[in-house]
Amino acid sequence: MASPEVANNYYMAAKRKLEEGDDLAAMSLFEKAAYEYIDLKREATNDYSRKTYDDRKNDCLNYIKQIKAPKKQRISDGNNVEKITYNVEFPQTDYSCVAGMKELKEKIDDLIITPLMKPEYAEYDLEQSSGTILYGPPGCGKTHIIRSIPGEIKKRTGQRVGIIDLAVSDILDQWVGSTEKHIKAIFETAKQNEPCIIFFDEIEGIGMSRSSHNSSYGKRFVDELLKDISKIREENKRVYIIGATNHPASLDPALIRPGRFDEAILISPPDFDARKEMFELYVGKLPYSNDIDYKQLALLSEDFSGADIKKVCRDAGKIAKKRAIRNNTKDPINQNDLLVAIENTYPSVYHWYDEMEKMLKKGKLDKIFAKEIVELIESSKKRRFNNENCIQ
Ligand SMILES: Nc1ncnc2c1ncn2[C@@H]1O[C@H](COP(=O)(O)OP(=O)(O)O)[C@@H](O)[C@H]1O
Ligand SMILES: [Mg+2]
Repeated sequence: MASPEVANNYYMAAKRKLEEGDDLAAMSLFEKAAYEYIDLKREATNDYSRKTYDDRKNDCLNYIKQIKAPKKQRISDGNNVEKITYNVEFPQTDYSCVAGMKELKEKIDDLIITPLMKPEYAEYDLEQSSGTILYGPPGCGKTHIIRSIPGEIKKRTGQRVGIIDLAVSDILDQWVGSTEKHIKAIFETAKQNEPCIIFFDEIEGIGMSRSSHNSSYGKRFVDELLKDISKIREENKRVYIIGATNHPASLDPALIRPGRFDEAILISPPDFDARKEMFELYVGKLPYSNDIDYKQLALLSEDFSGADIKKVCRDAGKIAKKRAIRNNTKDPINQNDLLVAIENTYPSVYHWYDEMEKMLKKGKLDKIFAKEIVELIESSKKRRFNNENCIQ
């Protein structure tokens, strides 16, 4: 039996630890409290208690998320001056988990990997690029490929490149009042650990904060970011900044003017070859029969994002598992399971296309993004229209 007293004690102790700055202890206590509240909710006899315990559990999870999110450590320098350093990570995944995206991989070589790993060739560049923004519909691999760059460099060159990986939406609230300090800390950490990549995921969060209630806060964030980017350039540091966004219309235009983030690259849904590779990758992780026709799967999944294709494979796995349990066999996934899963999946990028069309109509999409997005939507529409005509 769970006890409200035990849960509340954990909860209060966690908050005390948080105030004392002992994040690790706070996180472990919030975790214990969350488990107690989950049990309490399960055992509750009325809706009111169920809701109260559920709210508390969510509260605990939010605290845990906040503690984890900034991936920073506070270090005292001995004079009671607090210094913040951000965690530099060295993820192991490389391009073997990233299907397709051939052109993007080549671009990443030119823009990021070569300058970071072969600085002795910098004299050939009229200008050094230090920042790129990837934009496009959700689920098409922006976050996925960026996180695999350090592992890819390690595989090819044997050298370690770190990444400071920050989801902007997670860090914004915590930075109110100390934005500059945090951005400086990120860039300092990166410089001390060069070669290093700074990754601002969901970077549009910065722009959003600028247009929301606290406008000066967003502006300070952008200004400091731009200042630090140009400093990296001046000091010729081997630090590269990448931003990713599904919401280019919300991006602060100040970030994409020339001389700031120099490139904005559209990440489109996977093409035929990429989809085929993706099916091979994800079906390959499951027990599968020898009737799988990857070409057919790729043909039938036009406009699917990487995340959609992963979902199709997951769903097919579920269908096959149910059948195997029912028949008490270990029969693998077959082509039909995948076809059924494809049939039941709606391409998630269509919602994004609708949203972008609205933004275009309202004139809210910067011309840097507009042209390629219009082309992407038009080509998808043309294909869909042609397909419908073929069926009739
Ligand atoms: N090219 C790809 N190769 C393999 N998996 C992919 C690819 N693109 C997307 N995925 C899968 O889809 C998921 C969502 O992709 P993600 O990178 O989070 O999308 P985005 O950041 O563009 O919204 C990834 O975690 C990955 O499992
Ligand atoms: Mg993402």
